[in-house]
Amino acid sequence: MFDYSGKHVIITGAAAGIGFGIAKCFHDAGANVSIGDFRPDALDNALATFDPERSFGYTVDVRDEEMVGTFFYDAEQGFGPVDIVVANAGVIPSAPVVDMTVDEWDRVLDTNAKGTFLTCRAGARSMLANNTSGKIITVSSIAADAARTDASHYCASKAAIVQFTKSLALEMSKHGINVNIIKPGYVEVESEVSPLSEEYKEVTRQGIPLGRPGRPEDIGNMALFLASDYADHITGESFVVAGGASAGRANLPPAQP
Ligand SMILES: NC(=O)c1ccc[n+]([C@@H]2O[C@H](COP(=O)([O-])OP(=O)(O)OC[C@H]3O[C@@H](n4cnc5c(N)ncnc54)[C@H](O)[C@@H]3O)[C@@H](O)[C@H]2O)c1
Repeated sequence: MFDYSGKHVIITGAAAGIGFGIAKCFHDAGANVSIGDFRPDALDNALATFDPERSFGYTVDVRDEEMVGTFFYDAEQGFGPVDIVVANAGVIPSAPVVDMTVDEWDRVLDTNAKGTFLTCRAGARSMLANNTSGKIITVSSIAADAARTDASHYCASKAAIVQFTKSLALEMSKHGINVNIIKPGYVEVESEVSPLSEEYKEVTRQGIPLGRPGRPEDIGNMALFLASDYADHITGESFVVAGGASAGRANLPPAQP
C-alpha cells in the first residue's frame, strides 16, 4: 500500500517492541531504516532481521544530547538526510506518588519527554538544513488523557509529549514539515526494560472493545500513514490506536436487573 523506497527513516527505541514494529513496517515498505536503542545486544538481534543494505543500528541513549546528535550524523552519512523521524523510545514505569523517588521521576521524564525533544530537535534541524519536507512523529499514549494510578510520572511525560509536539508542529508548519502524535493504547510486547505484571495485562486486555491488545504493527501502520503524502494536510494532531479503549467501556453487563 505504501512505497517508501529511497526514504530515510530514523526511529528511536527500535530494538524491540513498538519501535521495532514501526521500523519493520517502514523497512518492509522499502525504506532505509536507521534504528537507535540503548541496548546494543537487542539492537543486533533487530538488525539481523533487516536487509543489511537498508538498515543501520546505533547504540544511543535518547537522554544524552551528544549521543543523539552523533546518531543522526552517522545515520545520515550512510543514507543521506533524514526524511522521517519517529521518536518512540520510552519507559513504562510503576510507582505511587508517595513512594516515588526523585531519581525515578527524573528517569521517566528524561527518557520520555527530554528524549522526545532531543530526537525531534535533531530531526527538525536536519530537515531545515536540507530543505526537506519531512515528517516527524512522536509516540505518546492514551495515558496522556486518561490518567491511571501508579503512573503519574508516565502520564505527565506522555502529556508533555503532546504539547511539545503541537508546539513543534506550529513552528515547522511554514517549512512544510508535518509533526504528529500517535497515542497507542495497550500494545502487547515482551518488554525487557518495562515488564508489566500478568494481572495488569489481564485487566487491561478486558478493557479493549475490539477484543485484543494492540500489536506493534498496528502502531507501525499508523506511522506509515502519517509519514505518507496522504497525510500532507495533517499536522499537530493526535491519533489514538487503542482498539476502542479510549472511546469508553464495552462488554459491561446489562444495566437493568
Ligand atoms: N506497550 C504499550 O502498551 C504502550 C502503550 C502506549 C504507549 N507506549 C509507548 O510506546 C513506546 C515503546 O514502548 P514499548 O511498549 O515498545 O516498550 P519496550 O520496552 O518494548 O521498547 C522500548 C524500547 O526503547 C528502548 N529504550 C528505553 N529507554 C531508552 C533510552 N533512554 N534510550 C534509547 N532507547 C531506550 C528500550 O531498550 C526498548 O528497546 C514508549 O514510548 C511507550 O511509552 C507503549
